Amino acid sequence: MDNPKKISRRSFIKGAAILTVAGAVTGTGIWATSTPAYPSANIDINQEKNMEKKILVAYASKCGSTAEVAQKVGQVLSQSGVEVEVRSAREVRKMEDYDAVVMGTAIRMGRPVGEITSFAKKFSKELALLPTAVFSLGLSMKEDTAENRAETAKFIAPLVEQLPSRKSTAMFGGKFDLNTVSPILRFMLSKDTSGAMAPGDYRDWNAINAWSNSLPAELGLA
Ligand SMILES: Cc1cc2nc3c(=O)[nH]c(=O)nc-3n(C[C@H](O)[C@H](O)[C@H](O)COP(=O)(O)O)c2cc1C
Repeated sequence: MDNPKKISRRSFIKGAAILTVAGAVTGTGIWATSTPAYPSANIDINQEKNMEKKILVAYASKCGSTAEVAQKVGQVLSQSGVEVEVRSAREVRKMEDYDAVVMGTAIRMGRPVGEITSFAKKFSKELALLPTAVFSLGLSMKEDTAENRAETAKFIAPLVEQLPSRKSTAMFGGKFDLNTVSPILRFMLSKDTSGAMAPGDYRDWNAINAWSNSLPAELGLA
């Protein structure tokens, strides 16, 4: 195997610091930059079939790759004979009728996307009583090594720590395409020499499928 470069929290935090300084210099700030929109991945599956159980797959995605994975997770889950709603986390208004909730988030600057931690906080009472599962997408999981898993677990800790009834957690490689980020981010991230932000699609669809297939049993739906 190639000698995998360790992608540390420090690499991403360093990136954040560079971007913040750049923002200060340009007077914009990275947090004010907009990400180009991606198509909604919201979908209802088996709605018309009067299934006994209903699952929510809630995602927080900045550039669309996590949204695509959420849709795939929902499609695979639905094959086990449950109704599935795939929704952007920020669009979920109420938490009723669900028998389990799967949450998916991109990792940005060493943290889950804020929308998913807000979602977990907003529905903390309901989520504490439901079986839950979490997945993340990040470039820190470009390669599935014990070291990268440990690093990524730290990134998603602010989310998983809010979920006492969590039954399963998956950390997948993400996707990074310079064309899906704002011009300022594109410029800054194109200067990354650490390899941490090397553009590419690192999603392992076999692993995503396998995990999705394990969910009905893990969530007690089988
Ligand atoms: C500005 C920016 C910051 C990122 N920070 C991290 C990070 O700290 N850790 C990580 O593993 N991946 C990081 N990534 C990679 C994304 O998590 C990865 O590309 C993911 O698939 C993006 O999901 P999305 O397309 O749903 O937004 C970052 C990407 C961008 C554009």
